Amino acid sequence: MIAFFLGTHPELSLAELRLVFETRETLRYLSVALFDLDEEVVSKRFTALGGVPRYGSVLGTIPRHDDEIERKIQEVLITDLKEESRREYVISLYGVKLDKRSFHHDLKDLLSGVKYDGKFDEPQHAPATSAHVLARGGHEYSLVMIENLVYVIKTKQVQDAKFWSIIDAERPERDMKIGMLPAKLARMMINMSGAEMGGKLWDPFVGLGTVAMQAAFLGIPVHGTDKAQQSIEKSRQNMQWLIKKGLVAQAKHTLLQEPIERARVDRSISAIVTEPFLGKPRFKPFASGVLAQREWKQINRLYGSLLQIAAKTLSSGDRLVMVKPLFSFVARNGREWYNPPLAASPSVWRIPELIQDIGPLIWTHRDSVVGRQIMILEKR
Ligand SMILES: C[S@@+](CC[C@H](N)C(=O)[O-])C[C@H]1O[C@@H](n2cnc3c(N)ncnc32)[C@H](O)[C@@H]1O
Repeated sequence: MIAFFLGTHPELSLAELRLVFETRETLRYLSVALFDLDEEVVSKRFTALGGVPRYGSVLGTIPRHDDEIERKIQEVLITDLKEESRREYVISLYGVKLDKRSFHHDLKDLLSGVKYDGKFDEPQHAPATSAHVLARGGHEYSLVMIENLVYVIKTKQVQDAKFWSIIDAERPERDMKIGMLPAKLARMMINMSGAEMGGKLWDPFVGLGTVAMQAAFLGIPVHGTDKAQQSIEKSRQNMQWLIKKGLVAQAKHTLLQEPIERARVDRSISAIVTEPFLGKPRFKPFASGVLAQREWKQINRLYGSLLQIAAKTLSSGDRLVMVKPLFSFVARNGREWYNPPLAASPSVWRIPELIQDIGPLIWTHRDSVVGRQIMILEKR
């Protein structure tokens, strides 16, 4: 049994996991999802995921009301640590109460040479916190209470925080005004699209190339188009930077200035992943819902063009994964979101069966005024 620790937008992480591993979780509680998968299968694909800070194997479960729960958790840890050359560990608690210091004292009596690293306050959602122990050859155990059981989970891999910060912060061409897709979100969207190394992925609003760069990391050939020549040049710079920096060996890509309204049908494309124009850059919420609706009226034609050309380009079973904006506006009782309607004809598109019960996939931040809904549409 594998436990995935979900990212800042758990529903999106869950959708990514289900679509990548083509199965549903057996249990989910807040930011933890348990999947019945082989560790070998997961370990090969983990670094390709965007929305999962870390995962681990379930070593054992103990009933929460067991009188000897601490001793039993210690037993699980001892059995595991005995096999390890470096007996250093850290514990993360999820709904479990434990005095870590005294727990460790007892453990020390039972297992010689064991060392506890209590430098960080847990639970640790961010990969960087437990990564320091793992990097030294130590171990992280998480105790997660779900219903009447405590799951003892041993971390197997954590996301490479350094890699993601380089990608987001150091690429040469950045532009806060045109709105850049967060790199992790772009990665998740590609994974949700089912794009594979054999097929070609198209981003018709390539912008600064966030999606194209992520496709390159996964070895997926990508075709990027955009109305603005300036965007094409900037995305080209970003792709070249990836290669120069040695982050990818090669990136099979073509970039072309072409507005969506004049896009040609290219049948070699097997997935479309894109973030269209989200409206004029905004730093404040709309003053009313009516103004937010008016903004959508100005731009929804682009979304209609995208759906039309996507329907002609993709074959049955292929996916279009796209961002649709949400606009924040000032309402009587504070701020609200306007989530515009987008009619994707049900006779042409369906939502993949595996994610139908998850609900709308929304990516927003506390202070953001334009949010994103990720739509995953599969061609019938
Ligand atoms: C929100 S940006 C995409 C940003 C991109 N996802 C990134 O992270 O770099 C939208 C892009 O759509 C382009 N665009 C606007 N209208 C277009 C149209 N009619 N056809 C194609 N591209 C268009 C803009 O030039 C802009 O680069």
